[in-house]
Amino acid sequence: MSEKIFRFLAEQRPDLPCLVVDLDVVAGKYRALAALLPGVGIYYAVKANPAPEVLSVLAGLGAGFDAASVTEIRSALDAGGRPERISYGSTIKKRSEIAAAYALGVRLFAFDSQAELEKIAEAAPGSRVCCRIRVSESGADWPLTRKFGCDFDMACDLMRRAGGLGVDPYGMMFHVGSQQTKPEQWDAAIEKSKQFFDRLRADGITLKMLNLGGGLPAHYRTEVPPIERYTQEMQESLARHFPEGLPELLIEPGRYIVAEAGIIQSEVVLIAKKSAKDEVRWVYLDVGKFSGLAETMDEAIEYVIRTPHDGGPAGPVILAGPTCDGVDVLYEKAGYKLPLDLAIGDRVEIFAAGAYTTTYSTVGFNGLPPLKDYYI
Ligand SMILES: Cc1ncc(COP(=O)(O)O)c(C=O)c1O
Repeated sequence: MSEKIFRFLAEQRPDLPCLVVDLDVVAGKYRALAALLPGVGIYYAVKANPAPEVLSVLAGLGAGFDAASVTEIRSALDAGGRPERISYGSTIKKRSEIAAAYALGVRLFAFDSQAELEKIAEAAPGSRVCCRIRVSESGADWPLTRKFGCDFDMACDLMRRAGGLGVDPYGMMFHVGSQQTKPEQWDAAIEKSKQFFDRLRADGITLKMLNLGGGLPAHYRTEVPPIERYTQEMQESLARHFPEGLPELLIEPGRYIVAEAGIIQSEVVLIAKKSAKDEVRWVYLDVGKFSGLAETMDEAIEYVIRTPHDGGPAGPVILAGPTCDGVDVLYEKAGYKLPLDLAIGDRVEIFAAGAYTTTYSTVGFNGLPPLKDYYI
């Protein structure tokens, strides 16, 4: 892991907890993916980490952006992104937000319902629309798709109506769920996408774009297949299902690009037992669910944690955050063990914490400040 981050932490000794992101790793992830998926537009999902430093690096490398709000669109533009390379990917937008995005030059909008399509047609006339279809999210550690995407028949129906409403039925998208551990999920979604293309072609509508969504994983505590397995799966699947030629392709990675670039350093606030007989120690950190580690909900994302005593004898722990809230427990069932020598005041590192942390941090729950972040 990043020597640069450890040097920064050792030299600067910033107040804890804090996240430090190595921008070289961000650039490296982008370049690796671009090399593995030539010809595919990489639209970074801004929500994963919207720091201007991250966006500037990616814009400089030619990335497009998937934005979930007008604020994210503005951030992408401020960082040097171009409006024609921004997808307003949220399927839940106010009419005023669609109009604001349109005024900023954005012309690609996602939707998954009739009402949203009508809003886009009214507030962003002539724009390209992209229908999100529901696909399987099995294998995703942080699933999303039950909330998003409509079924195949509804998607077909909506795309047939789009032209009549004055927007361009341009493409379709899916999201196989975040932190997707099964590369083969893309094959199933791409197969369904091809059926969607064919069904609409039979109606005289030629879709031009397929958006492969997010979902590429980061390395946390459980092994995931290497990125090459994912991109190979996608390419083979695309070649199999679109033998007559590929449409324009986009992909919207968030987690994959930034997670492994970031490390949170945290301090052990308290180590305690609740009864003299307890074997399990409660270890309370100065960072928790309300200061960035929201994805520990249901112990979904299991971060790798390093302590100064690793390698010595270890015992089971329940890891918790510092707030006076009962849900601020990070791991109770996941079987974490930490060294018996771990002491109050020790600094511990939480790896692959660059995605979905800073923006999940509350503004001041319990009087604790939002997670501080540095980009180096
Ligand atoms: C529309 C859309 N695209 C892309 C992403 C990024 O997903 P991931 O971080 O899993 O790559 C998300 C995540 O919520 C999303 O909602």
